[in-house]
Amino acid sequence: MDVITNVSEMQARVLSIKDRKESIGFVPTMGALHEGHVSLVRSARNENDELIVSIYLNPTQFDNKDDFDNYPHQLDKDIEIVEREDADVVFAPGTEEMYPEGFCTYVTQGKLIDSLCGRLRPGHFNGVTTIVTKLFNIIRPDRAYFGQKDYQQSIVIEKLVADLNMGVDVKVLPTVRGEDGLALSSRNKRLNPEERHSALCIYGSLLKAKSMFASNVKDSKEIIEEMTSIIKKAKHTRIDYISIVNANTLEDVSSINGKAVAAVAVWIGNTRLIDNLILE
Ligand code: PAJ
Repeated sequence: MDVITNVSEMQARVLSIKDRKESIGFVPTMGALHEGHVSLVRSARNENDELIVSIYLNPTQFDNKDDFDNYPHQLDKDIEIVEREDADVVFAPGTEEMYPEGFCTYVTQGKLIDSLCGRLRPGHFNGVTTIVTKLFNIIRPDRAYFGQKDYQQSIVIEKLVADLNMGVDVKVLPTVRGEDGLALSSRNKRLNPEERHSALCIYGSLLKAKSMFASNVKDSKEIIEEMTSIIKKAKHTRIDYISIVNANTLEDVSSINGKAVAAVAVWIGNTRLIDNLILE
């Protein structure tokens, strides 16, 4: 496996893959890899000739300096993890490569970012759409793999690819959880044992939503009230949002008729976690 840190070297490698008419599977990440990332890497390995994984902590998608400064780093360990999964290339550029001096072009999206995390983290998704566009232009993947854990991100990227005719097949894979149900996240590394225990209320609230919906409760307000009370009972929690949205438009729904998503963002101490479940 090769580790490439330079954009032009990465582009040259992609050209040689394209010359051989091989397919490229691509998994973009920000590092601090866990089994959630690994599940994407494994699918990509199975479905493509060449597998490229990027590891790049993208500064433009952070709306909070503390979050960026405290984001876990473990590049050497990440490279080992990806190598074990038989990837062909790790692309790990520096910021001077991705945003050289004078950089001033951004890809922005309307509408889909007016709700959920987009509403509360101004600029976040424009950072995501910009970096993903750059990575897609450099790597020119046939298929790219994302996790349902970041549900809004997956919808934003599907729309980015459709609206800008990028011709990339976007695959969205299920959320990988710990045995206790907590969705795996690089940010979980920051939780102390008591906070980690409190964080279980997130999945607990989503399971409550699922069971209410299964027993025919369709009223979002009623479901959200129950979810709120579960989260408020846990220690160290502060709710950013608890929403039930249309699965495609991400607009709030007052009553669940078609495919919907229950989505939660909660601060556990100083760590903000998100999770969701599809209700259909
Ligand atoms: P990062 O948070 O590192 O996540 C990389 C990919 O792993 C995303 O598609 C995310 O949804 C997926 N993922 C994270 N936790 C998961 C879990 N528990 N189960 C399944 N998939 C999971 O998302 C980003 O990086 C960045 O925004 C990026 C797309 C790389 C752009 O910078």
